[in-house]
Parts: sequence; structure tokens; C-alpha cells
Amino acid sequence: MPNKKNKTMSRLSDRDQNHLWHPLTQHKLHPSHIAITKAKGALLFDEEGNSYIDGIASWYTCMYGHCNETIIEKVTAQLQQLDQVVFSGFTHQPAVEMSEALMQILPANQQKIFFSDNGSTSVDVAIKMALQSHFNQGDTRARIIALENAFHGDTFGAMSVSGLSVYNGAFEDFLLQIDRIDVPTQENFEVVKSEFETLVATGEVAAFIFEPLVQGAAAMHMYSANLLDELIAIAQKHKVICIADEVMTGFGKTGTYFASDQLNNKPDILCLSKSLTGGVVPMALTTCTQEVYDAFYDDEIKKGFFHGHTYSANPLGCTAILAGIELLTSNEMQQNIARVTEQHRAFEARIKKHPKVKSTRQLGVIFALDLNVEMERYGNLRDQLFNFFMDHGVCLRPLGSTVYILAPFVITNEELQKIYSTIEAALEQL
Ligand SMILES: Cc1ncc(COP(=O)(O)O)c(C=O)c1O
Repeated sequence: MPNKKNKTMSRLSDRDQNHLWHPLTQHKLHPSHIAITKAKGALLFDEEGNSYIDGIASWYTCMYGHCNETIIEKVTAQLQQLDQVVFSGFTHQPAVEMSEALMQILPANQQKIFFSDNGSTSVDVAIKMALQSHFNQGDTRARIIALENAFHGDTFGAMSVSGLSVYNGAFEDFLLQIDRIDVPTQENFEVVKSEFETLVATGEVAAFIFEPLVQGAAAMHMYSANLLDELIAIAQKHKVICIADEVMTGFGKTGTYFASDQLNNKPDILCLSKSLTGGVVPMALTTCTQEVYDAFYDDEIKKGFFHGHTYSANPLGCTAILAGIELLTSNEMQQNIARVTEQHRAFEARIKKHPKVKSTRQLGVIFALDLNVEMERYGNLRDQLFNFFMDHGVCLRPLGSTVYILAPFVITNEELQKIYSTIEAALEQL
């Protein structure tokens, strides 16, 4: 029997080490975790009384600010009314109202909404929807096209379509077979397009999945809407279902409600999570066109979509989504988005010529700079930078040699300036 007696310790960060296993962590190298006890707006507070500006909105979730009063008020009221009910055979007001509000801001071709719990499951749902949609029509297609360096999550389907595989070695033999194409650029487009055309012309491709305009985990890699548009047009001509994974890009971050708003050819399926609920409750949605849905609508039960999560459409989550949509569409939040975008532009103009900066990019409230150094994705320099930022009261998590900012829309100009000057100070240390 393992000894379950906890060592007597008072700090949360010490007690944490008794039983907790953190995500994406090699505990032998990183045993200690900072205990956060409180958050408000763009600030996190730790158990030692230190504060940090949350420059990545806690993995792009709390975009309307931590502990947002509008969301909390509505979720608290909902908590008194209806906490949870099975969503198979039952429905409820928060789900219905949320669906009506979401339809007002989603790309016009989206019609139906399916629930799950996180970004990865929203992707798995999308993949299953696409495969079964063809299957139900007697058109069995087994291939899926994904982009190189994509990241779509950590469940098996999502892992399969993701390109960053160095950490997935143990699972490689168990993943779906995926055809990968390079992210289109002006330089490679003719080659990529021709490869893509050859693949879809086989009639065997069920789906094409992509993170539209920005590949988040690939160090905020940005690519052209026009080129993606062309690929979507080719795919849709061959009845390939196009899946936009907007788990990171959704809800205002790229300057439009969805990155797909910047495309002429609208994806058939969208995956949504992260700031969907303003970071208050874990939840995810996979939305689709009427056409995708119609492939499941049949007298035969087995043609239905038999995928379901216990907490589907949890009323608290739906309420948080509804409150989030109200905030996102408000003049105040749109002005915040425009303001942060402007601030980033001015910082970019100032920093891009710095000798330690190789390149910069920005879209909406997403800003990234690549350092002029060679290093491993999770190497020492990355850790040193992270520690430097935290020591200066700024929470930024560099991805390899890329430092990016994706802060809550409500961050103040002073807080933004502190992030910028801390990055500049870090460059001087390199
Ligand atoms: C584009 C994209 N898709 C999917 C995911 C997975 O989401 P989750 O971590 O909620 O499973 C992420 C997470 O970072 C993401 O950025």
C-alpha cells in the first residue's frame, strides 16, 4: 500500500506535491507550482501575496477578465434555479437562449449546436460528425486532411489530427491515419494546392481540419485567409467537410467574432471552447450546417449521432456562454478589442527592429515575437524567460523561442505597457 500520509505543510504549493499531477509537466524537472488564490480582471494573486498580469488570459479563456461580474451574477442566479439535468430527452432555458444568441454571431451557414466539455472533445465530435455524415450517406470515406504543426488537443482523435507529435510517441501506432499538408504560404501555394487537389480528388477524404488564420500552439503561426479560402473551395467542391477549429481563435481574438468571418468560404463545422464561457466553466461546442445535420436525420435510429457527455449543455455553462456573448457584442468590449489591437500595433512598430527580435506578427489581440536565438521548444531559455516574467509580475508562457501575448480584452493600457516593458527588459538579459 502506498503511504498516503501527507507531510505536514502549510503552503498550498508544497501540499500540491503530495497528490496532484499537472498537465504537460515533467514533475521530476518541475516539481513546484505557484498557488493562485484569487483573480480579478487581468490580475492573478498568489498565496505569497504577489500579483501577476495574466498575459495569456489563462490559456485564452478569461477574455472578459477574471471573475467577471456579469458572468458571475448570471451564473450564480442560474445555480439557484437549475444546476444540472440530463440533456438527452430534456432541454432547458439556458441552452435554448444560448443557442438563439450564438446563432446571431456565428457564420451564417451554421445551424446546429452539439455540446461537449473541452476543446479536444469538440474536435473529436467534429471528426466523428464528418465521418458519420458520409457513412450515413453510403459514401464511406476514411481519410482526413490536416495541416502540419497543427494542434487540436489531447484526446485520440484530436491528437491524431495534431502535428506536434514529439510528445505523442507512445501513441503514434494508435492514431487515425491522417494526410498532412504544409500550411499554405505565397511561396509553397502551387505545390500545396496541387497536393491537396490530388488528395480530395480520390473521393476518399471525409474532412479537412484547420485552425483558421492562427495556429496557436505552433507559436501563434499566422497564415493567409485567401489561401485557406482557396483550399476550402476545392474541398467543398469535392464534398469534403471543412472543420474550423476555433477553440483558440473564437470569440473576438482575431478582431472578428470568429476567424472564419474573415473567410469567404465558410467552414461546415466549427469547434468552440476556451473563452466560450469566459473561463468560468469548462464547456465546448461543435456547430454545423443544416446539411451536415440532415445526414443524421432519419427514420433509422442508428443514423443518429450516438455521442454524449454527461455534462452536455450544463445550465451553468450555457448561462456563462450567454453572458459572454452579451459582453463580447457590447460596445465596451468591442472598444477594448480595438484598443488592445492598437496598443499591440504600436508595440510591434517599436520592437520589431530590436536586434534580439527575429520577427513579429499580430492579428487582433494576438501578438507574437520570435527571438533571434536557437533553442528547444521547452528548453532552458524558455524556462528562464518564464521565470523572469513571473519575477516581474507578468504571466507569459513562451512557446519555444516565441513570446506571445493574448491577454484579457479588459486589460488596462498600464498593464499592457508593463507587459511590453517587461518583454523589453527580458530582451536585454539575453
Ligand atoms: C486550436 C485548439 N484546439 C483544441 C485545443 C484543445 O483544447 P482543450 O485543452 O480544452 O482540450 C486547443 C488547446 O490549446 C487549441 O488551441
